[in-house]
Amino acid sequence: MKKFTCVADLGDLRAAVAEALEIKRDRFAHTELGRNRTLLMLFFNSSLRTRLSTQKAAMNLGMNVMVLDVNQGAWKLETERGVVMDGDRPEHLLEAIPVMGCYCDVIGVRSFARFESKQEDYEERILEQFIRYSGRPVFSMEAATGHPLQSFADLITIEEHKRTERPKVVLTWAPHPKALPQAVPNSFAEWMNAAGYDLVVTHPEGYELDPRFTGGARIEYDQRRAFEGADFVYAKNWAAYRDPNYGRILSQDRSWTVDAAKMALTNDAWFMHCLPVRRNMIVTDEVIEGPRSLVIPEAANREISAQTVLKRLLESL
Ligand code: CP
Repeated sequence: MKKFTCVADLGDLRAAVAEALEIKRDRFAHTELGRNRTLLMLFFNSSLRTRLSTQKAAMNLGMNVMVLDVNQGAWKLETERGVVMDGDRPEHLLEAIPVMGCYCDVIGVRSFARFESKQEDYEERILEQFIRYSGRPVFSMEAATGHPLQSFADLITIEEHKRTERPKVVLTWAPHPKALPQAVPNSFAEWMNAAGYDLVVTHPEGYELDPRFTGGARIEYDQRRAFEGADFVYAKNWAAYRDPNYGRILSQDRSWTVDAAKMALTNDAWFMHCLPVRRNMIVTDEVIEGPRSLVIPEAANREISAQTVLKRLLESL
C-alpha cells in the first residue's frame, strides 16, 4: 500500500479488519518492521487522539517519530501556486514537501477543509500535493473530505460489538456552535457502505452529504424514525455541503441532540462519536456516560487502525 486516503486503499476490507484484530491481539509482533524507519506527522490543525494514537502505533512498530505543527514551530507555509509571496508566509509548500520527504520514510498529514472553496476542499489540494511531491508513502490523518483512520477504527469497533452480520447503523447530524467539515461523516458513510451494513443517514433538510460518500444509504429527515431498530447510532455535526450553502451552519436545532429518549427507540443501540464532542449539544451526559457508549473503545481502536495502516505502508518500502 503506497498511500492511505480512503477505504479502497485497503483492498479487501474483511482481510484488513482481520489483520487489525490480529495486531490488537499482539501489537508488538512487528517491532522490527519499523526499525531505522522514520514517520513524520504533520499537523496543519489541532489533534489529541490522532496525534497520540498514531505516534503510539508507530512506536509499536519500532519506528522513530517526528511531529511538526505547521504554522507554529515552522515557517508559515504558502499553499497556493502563483501567488506573490509578499505576505506573512515565507515558505512555499512546493519546496517544503520534498524537503520534508528527505528526512523521513512515511508521512502523515492532517489538513482540514478551509471552507473557502468547495472545489479546493474536495480536490484535497494539500494532501494530494504531499502524495505527488514528497516521494514517500502518505496517509491521511484527517483531510478536507475524509478521516479514514477514524472510520477504520469505527469499523473495527462495530465488528467487535455487532450482534448481527448486517447491523443497522444510523449516522445522525447533531447541533454544534461552529461550522465543522464533512470529513468524518463522509468517511463514516463510505466505510459503512463498503462494509455492507444497513446505513441510514439522518439530518435536517439542507445537510445532505456528497452522494459519492453516502452511496445507496437511506436518507431520513425524521431522526426518531431513523433511530427505530438501530444497532449503532453514530452522532456527528457537519456544515452544509450543497451549494450555495457550502460550509454554512443552517441549523442549531437542539431537538436533534441525542438523548436517552431517542436511544430508547433503538435496538438497544451502541452510541458512537469520534470525539472531541460537545456534551449536551451533540449528546447528553447521560448517553455518553451510559453503559452503551463506545466512545472510549473507538478512541482506543485508533491505535489499531493506525498501526495496521503504518504496517502496510512500511511493507511497501
Ligand atoms: N477523532 C479525532 O480525530 O480526534 P483528534 O481531532 O483529537 O485527533
